[in-house]
Amino acid sequence: MSKANNQMLAETARIPQHVAIIMDGNGRWAELRGKKRTAGHKAGVESVKTSVAIAAKKGVKVLTLFAFSSENWQRPESEVSVLMDLFMFVLTREVKRLHKNGIKFKVIGDLSKFSSKLQKMIVESETLTAENTGMVLAVAANYGGRWDITNAAKILAEKVAKQEIKPEEITESTLNDQTSLAGLPELDLLIRTGGDYRISNFLLWQAAYAEFYFTDVLWPDFDEEEFTKAITLFDQRERRFGQTSAQVINNN
Ligand code: IPE
Ligand code: IPE
Ligand code: MG
Repeated sequence: MSKANNQMLAETARIPQHVAIIMDGNGRWAELRGKKRTAGHKAGVESVKTSVAIAAKKGVKVLTLFAFSSENWQRPESEVSVLMDLFMFVLTREVKRLHKNGIKFKVIGDLSKFSSKLQKMIVESETLTAENTGMVLAVAANYGGRWDITNAAKILAEKVAKQEIKPEEITESTLNDQTSLAGLPELDLLIRTGGDYRISNFLLWQAAYAEFYFTDVLWPDFDEEEFTKAITLFDQRERRFGQTSAQVINNN
């Protein structure tokens, strides 16, 4: 391979293939401005749009965004209701644009708790964009990492009960195949905005070897510059996957 090709490969290899974001800090962003928390959620939609555009531009293959956790139902009913309305509004307005840009849209999480109208809109959006070959945008809604693993275990248990598989055929790979992000590249980079250092029941299974990036920046302020900082830092990390540093250097 020519030096130029090698260089190109090295440059593309530095971009994380799969980025996930815990989009936190909308409420505090609004409160700091003397506004209602829901104003922060509305402002956060702009950051979602920016992040999708930047991720696609940089060549990220999968962007997974945490929009609503299985624990977020515990918030005041009025806030939950605004979040649901916002989700529907964004679906109506933005999915066509995603489709135009070749983005494949999917929603992960336990969708059975959503209104039938919202469920229908989600299925329609996924169907519209199903054949697209650009970046995959996965939005996690009523998602919980523990739910994802439990759900995969349940599917496998049903297969065993129906004698389609034997218990000894259950492996990390077959369990992975039943999780929400099966078939997509491994999670490389997990970003959390809003200043907290926790995973809040997001991608527990998938984060096994992800690099973590925490920033104090509140989600509505997360822009191209901040996203680029996260990607640059990812590039500087040495991913050893259990090996020694010397082994990693020799393999490259
Ligand atoms: C994240 O922002 C959005 C959702 C969880 C839906 P928050 O609403 O959690 O904002 P803070 O953390 O209270 O500032
Ligand atoms: C995590 O944020 C969920 C989303 C960003 C959707 P939270 O604000 O719900 O997390 P906790 O409660 O502070 O852990
Ligand atoms: Mg929060």
